[in-house]
Amino acid sequence: MSLAPQELENSASKYASEAIRCDSNGSYSIAITNYQKAVDSLMKLMKFYPNNKLNKIYMARMASYKNRIKLLRMTSGVEINNNGNKKIEDIDSNNDFNNLIMTEKPQIGWEEVIGLDDAKNALRESIVYPTKRPDLFPLGWPRGILLYGPPGCGKTVLAAATANEIDGYFFNVDAASMMSKWLGEAEKNVSKLFNIARTYAEKQIKPVILFIDEVDSLLGTRNSEVGGEIRARNQFLIEMDGVNTKHKDLKMYVVGATNKPWSLDWPFLRRFQKRISASLPDIKSRESLFDLYNIPLKIDVKVKSPELAKISNGYSASDIKDICQAAQLKAVNELFNSAEYMEPIEGEELPQPKSLTMMDFKEIMNRRKPSVSTEMVKAYYKWGEEFKAL
Ligand SMILES: Nc1ncnc2c1ncn2[C@@H]1O[C@H](COP(=O)(O)OP(=O)(O)O)[C@@H](O)[C@H]1O
Ligand SMILES: [Mg+2]
Repeated sequence: MSLAPQELENSASKYASEAIRCDSNGSYSIAITNYQKAVDSLMKLMKFYPNNKLNKIYMARMASYKNRIKLLRMTSGVEINNNGNKKIEDIDSNNDFNNLIMTEKPQIGWEEVIGLDDAKNALRESIVYPTKRPDLFPLGWPRGILLYGPPGCGKTVLAAATANEIDGYFFNVDAASMMSKWLGEAEKNVSKLFNIARTYAEKQIKPVILFIDEVDSLLGTRNSEVGGEIRARNQFLIEMDGVNTKHKDLKMYVVGATNKPWSLDWPFLRRFQKRISASLPDIKSRESLFDLYNIPLKIDVKVKSPELAKISNGYSASDIKDICQAAQLKAVNELFNSAEYMEPIEGEELPQPKSLTMMDFKEIMNRRKPSVSTEMVKAYYKWGEEFKAL
């Protein structure tokens, strides 16, 4: 069986972080292999879901991994040591930073993000309203927003919807591409990124969102100074302070997303005044998710979304999407393998798969367990009790 889309996304980020780790300690050829694997996973993911609204984000990510591969290849053969890193940075031009800005924003509306009302409200309150009416916020407003929660629950989708909502600039940085750009003179590049974002906010008088996916990777492995992670992190904290205090009128925001909130330390967390959970969908949201993903499918009249919602406790939004896709795949397989299947004849109606039944969905769910364990759910809850800030 090929990998399910959620697994593909997870493996893409795993490969990417492994690539950075190798990149930062000088194992460039292993880094290249891992960047390439990350690219392959994202490519497969886009093939699976050609209409996924996040594809633009994935594409930008792929481009940055490819850039990095190109750079590493260009310098390979050359003896690269810590100073060699510098050389790579030199080739890494400003252009690369400009690539982070998504001029073509993902076309995804708030209504397409199911559930997550607290998160939506918080993003509206802190980004959309102050952007539209700064005069109503004499005491300022929060600039740092952290979205945390299990994979596949909508953190990236939320950021994409926010980008779509504002007529501004959306810098899409996943920590993977960021760290690879930041190797060597890491802290200098952190300030460069913030400077570019700030310049956009100042000159264009339009809001700027700096979205950092998997922001936890920014902290690096803590005890390895090789890639300059500690300096990068410290510079990040300084820049966040600048955004929060010095430039009060600027419409600039930093939105971070993480699956591993517990790996963030307090100085880091403190800079994100809003810390909002994107958790597993509740029963109502699961019903809406099934409604949403079943729209384009042929479904038996006896299949009821409330019923599906009842039996899918523990599944993430992205799991539910995978379940619907798998059910459809099953029907398509049966069609192709049926004895009566005939190649379509021109001008005649195409043979169609059978309608999906409740049984089909149940079968898939029996085979495919939730991607987030109950222990994990508890861990997010526990962390949230201590650190969430709405
Ligand atoms: N709340 C949601 N509403 C609608 N679709 C969702 C939601 N959460 C996740 N998805 C679907 O799952 C996929 C992965 O979501 P993503 O936002 O990347 O999750 P995360 O960033 O939390 O890991 C998306 O492509 C989207 O189709
Ligand atoms: Mg994501």
